[in-house]
Amino acid sequence: MENQKKSVLSCIQPTGAMHLGNYFGAVKNWVDLQKDYQCIYGIVDYHAMTMPYDIKKLRTRVWDLITDLVATGVEPENLFIQSLIPEHAELCWIFNCFCSYGNLTRMTQFKDKSNDSQAKSKDNFISAGLLDYPVLQSADILIYKADFVPVGKDQDQHLELTRNIAQRFNTTVGKEYFVLPKSLHSDTPKIKSTADPSRKMSKSAGEKHFINVFAEEARIRKQVRSAVTDTGDTKAGTMSEGVENIFQLIQACENRPTEYAELMKDYENGELKYSDLKDVLAEALVELTNGFKLKRAELNENKRELKYKIKQSSEAIRKVAQETVKEVKDLVGLMNVKF
Ligand code: TYM
Repeated sequence: MENQKKSVLSCIQPTGAMHLGNYFGAVKNWVDLQKDYQCIYGIVDYHAMTMPYDIKKLRTRVWDLITDLVATGVEPENLFIQSLIPEHAELCWIFNCFCSYGNLTRMTQFKDKSNDSQAKSKDNFISAGLLDYPVLQSADILIYKADFVPVGKDQDQHLELTRNIAQRFNTTVGKEYFVLPKSLHSDTPKIKSTADPSRKMSKSAGEKHFINVFAEEARIRKQVRSAVTDTGDTKAGTMSEGVENIFQLIQACENRPTEYAELMKDYENGELKYSDLKDVLAEALVELTNGFKLKRAELNENKRELKYKIKQSSEAIRKVAQETVKEVKDLVGLMNVKF
């Protein structure tokens, strides 16, 4: 008898372009895991509402991100759009009652993003949704009873909270109902900004702090050329964060192994030229992303077919979510209507 495959769940926010941090930190893993696991991946538009956003752009961003994900190798039948599965929000409410307020205020992303949100809004507005965001994330994960969650390092604290909620729920209802999910990291779980390697690559920090996977070739080359290598405050004998980040990116591309080894040797011998290092990274990225761009152009020729597939896959995935919510409502003493 065939063993049941372990399940994998992960999500991404439709808040703009997919950058190299998203790709190497998470999405590349999503693609690889599809061979051996039962995978479900979400575009989380409810999450994208927690910060000030442009209503007119949100739907387009969802479809663009779906096209990008499929172009990089994610199977359309594994994808869902969060707002097509309202059970996520329903389970989030139930989980709110299994999560302490204090835990939410301790989330470092809440602290960082609330400053950012305040700065972006005209009236110093921080939404309650931003505080509650990790509870919705826990619902995203637990609703599919995921064993593994492939994410970047920045999500570890949210995963810890998810396990806390699952544990509290299990103890309260007196049943080991939810499995405790584990995060899965790639070899590059924290890609840094090439403009400022002391911070992670992210969209919220501004244009120069992320490299868009689908950017024009000339833009990728320009951003790599201007990457910060050494700010002069690195301890002797240790590699600077900027140089380390570039080495990691070259390795993650997996298409320049010989050059990587030679550059590393140059570094160890104290003969590394930063311009050579950057040239190799630019070539590696251009080669990798050109393949994605071709695939995306093909997909864009038949947008309707892709949209149809995603609506179908969201409907199929919703059945799993409905089943979980029905069981959870039974367990916590709420009413159930047949669906
Ligand atoms: P988001 O949309 O910010 O990022 C999507 C994925 O990309 C990873 N990532 C990075 N990895 C390495 N280096 C970086 N610089 C970098 N920047 C981003 C993120 O860790 C993430 O895996 N809260 C999540 C979305 C979410 C989610 C979930 C994830 C909602 N529900 C359920 C997993 C499971 C977020 O904002 O990711």
